[in-house]
Amino acid sequence: MKNIVVIGAGTMGNGIAHTFAQTGFKVNLVDVSEEALQKGISTISKNLDRIIAKGNLTEEQKAETLGNISTFTQLSDACGNAELIVEAATENQELKLKIFKQMDELAPANCILATNTSSISITKIAAATKRPEKVIGMHFMNPVPIMKLVEIIKGYSTLKETFDAIFEMSKILGKVPVEVNDYPGFVANRILMPMINEAIETLYNGVAGVEEIDTVMKLGMAHPMGPLQLADFIGLDVCLAILNVMYDGFKNPKYAPNPLLVNMVTAGKLGVKSGEGFYDYSESKKAEKVAKMFMK
Ligand SMILES: NC(=O)c1ccc[n+]([C@@H]2O[C@H](COP(=O)([O-])OP(=O)(O)OC[C@H]3O[C@@H](n4cnc5c(N)ncnc54)[C@H](O)[C@@H]3O)[C@@H](O)[C@H]2O)c1
Repeated sequence: MKNIVVIGAGTMGNGIAHTFAQTGFKVNLVDVSEEALQKGISTISKNLDRIIAKGNLTEEQKAETLGNISTFTQLSDACGNAELIVEAATENQELKLKIFKQMDELAPANCILATNTSSISITKIAAATKRPEKVIGMHFMNPVPIMKLVEIIKGYSTLKETFDAIFEMSKILGKVPVEVNDYPGFVANRILMPMINEAIETLYNGVAGVEEIDTVMKLGMAHPMGPLQLADFIGLDVCLAILNVMYDGFKNPKYAPNPLLVNMVTAGKLGVKSGEGFYDYSESKKAEKVAKMFMK
């Protein structure tokens, strides 16, 4: 596989495009929004500069990486010779079913269709296509260029051949793939989201403040980042969407999203990407805060 299409240029999509392009793959990056594409390329460029500053990349390699990425606003223009499409659009089931139906119609018959969904059923997404045996979950972690884990999720109809190809591809990208079955939240979010939701509940109940809760988990449990800060980083809308999928999927009240999370998302406070969540990321503070959160 040489020709990769990444759908969505947001938090995850630009990281996925970056990782493939830096490994030498040709990437067509697609987003409905031209602004998101520009922002995505600018983020990739800044992240490559950080790698150069650490002495792990040259200016020539940066230019090659950026040269491997082309941007598109129309899926139909981007996937004519795709061998693998990784979908990383907004976490919304209806939207993903629509995109997969479209991908199935436009992509060559041998192309594998992967999704980076955090929680939506791979089996359900696969059923929107006529090639469910070639549909698979390829769940990268954020920030993609840094985090090693990829959950590889087999849908009910995913062929072993498809699984093996994506497992090997993840290794080529320098990642560590882990095999997971298709149940709501998979493994990562099944365990992480109840913790984040409980941290929000703890705040909502007035047990402690934002920084206090994060400090307890950082210093007491040796977590590199507190759960509220992590929620800001993931995106509060993404956290809410994942909790709702688990709540619906298991019909278990323990996954019900806390009302404070629902209110914050309704008010547009989505975390780092919107400039405010549990912490303030307004332009003046953003660079410093984000740097502290993610850089060694
Ligand atoms: N944020 C995280 O930490 C994280 C981690 C792992 C997986 N994920 C998953 O990755 C996916 C993307 O999440 P994100 O955080 O990058 O979201 P995001 O909101 O940052 O970006 C989503 C992008 O998708 C684009 N988009 C929407 N509809 C589209 C369409 N029809 N075609 C092309 N692009 C379209 C939007 O314009 C936006 O740029 C979701 O499924 C999410 O669950 C997120």
